[in-house]
Amino acid sequence: MAVRPSQPSRKLVIKPKANRGIKTSVHPQSTQLTDPQGRRFHYLRLSITDACNFRCSYCLPEGYLKRADAPEPLSHPEIANLIAGFAEAGFWKVRLTGGEPTVRRDLLQIIETAARTPGVREVALTTNGSRLRSLAGDFRRAGLTSLNVSVDSLDPERFTEISGQPRLAEVLEGIDAAFEAGIPSIKVNAVLLKGLNELELDRFIAWTRDTPISIRFIELMRTNRNAEYFETYSLSAGEIQLRLARAGWVARPKTEGDGPAIEYTRPGHLGRIGVIAPYSRDFCASCNRLRVSSQGGLRLCLFGEKDFSLRSLLRSPEQKDELLATLQELIGRKPDSHLLHQGIYGSTRNLADIGG
Ligand code: 5AD
Ligand code: SF4
Repeated sequence: MAVRPSQPSRKLVIKPKANRGIKTSVHPQSTQLTDPQGRRFHYLRLSITDACNFRCSYCLPEGYLKRADAPEPLSHPEIANLIAGFAEAGFWKVRLTGGEPTVRRDLLQIIETAARTPGVREVALTTNGSRLRSLAGDFRRAGLTSLNVSVDSLDPERFTEISGQPRLAEVLEGIDAAFEAGIPSIKVNAVLLKGLNELELDRFIAWTRDTPISIRFIELMRTNRNAEYFETYSLSAGEIQLRLARAGWVARPKTEGDGPAIEYTRPGHLGRIGVIAPYSRDFCASCNRLRVSSQGGLRLCLFGEKDFSLRSLLRSPEQKDELLATLQELIGRKPDSHLLHQGIYGSTRNLADIGG
């Protein structure tokens, strides 16, 4: 198998700390970055590795292969400087993503650092769940407040077909462990795939009845590498939204600060259903996030062409002012909207590069 993570997985145990929970403090010097469209940014999505141990058919069908010339991912100190700078710029939510963040040996320290950074109130993690069963308690103790686990199918065989790994049971046990550990917000991501998991809507809905879980259906995104796959499997979120409405689910009105997901609730269900539809017309209007790649490249839009490298500004905490000035300048260049409707997909080869 072609999986060669740059850093081997190993369980790290850290000493238990008091639960930090969700904080309400804001950074003392925080400024709020606003772009020319008046959008405010408070949400940093940081990829900490492009390596992954899964082979999702729409993302890394051949598995992860480390490029010989690829620079190392940002180090823990570089990440600490980055998060401190963003927090001072008013970012209070940090999501650690990948690739698969749990392939990094220092993940728990990174979560701790993010949780301790003044101004950061939420630390979220996106994972494929393969190591969650053993790590959930450590995540909570390190200060994690929110977890997104990818589960594209609840049928074991279909899960294996989509992710390249026969590990649905382990992932579901990992989610149970996350609930037991008391991680405050637990969400499931399922990429909508025509003829595959769309047949399982009722099964996903049944999960929300007695479990306070939020299940997010995400429209499959076209990248540089998945053209044919996209043709075969893409499914408009509109179809799922119709089916949800028929089944008695009601969309919650959006309030300021909400991201691009549309959230549905239904009386009698503890959980929620979310729909993320990047191909819908008004998707970009509620964009409240910036992305940084595992090598420190700022990506103003997921479907943008270009990364702006911040790495040279992350060598020491003393560079914070320069980092802030650069962020301020770059945010002025954030595009109004992606150009997917014009067939322009940007430079993203797959989402393992930059995070989902
Ligand atoms: N389209 C939509 N979602 C994707 N993800 C990865 N690639 C794509 C794509 N092409 C999702 C993963 C995971 C999150 C990190 O991003 O399934 O839920
Ligand atoms: Fe890995 Fe996520 Fe890509 Fe799947 S979608 S191959 S879990 S990075």
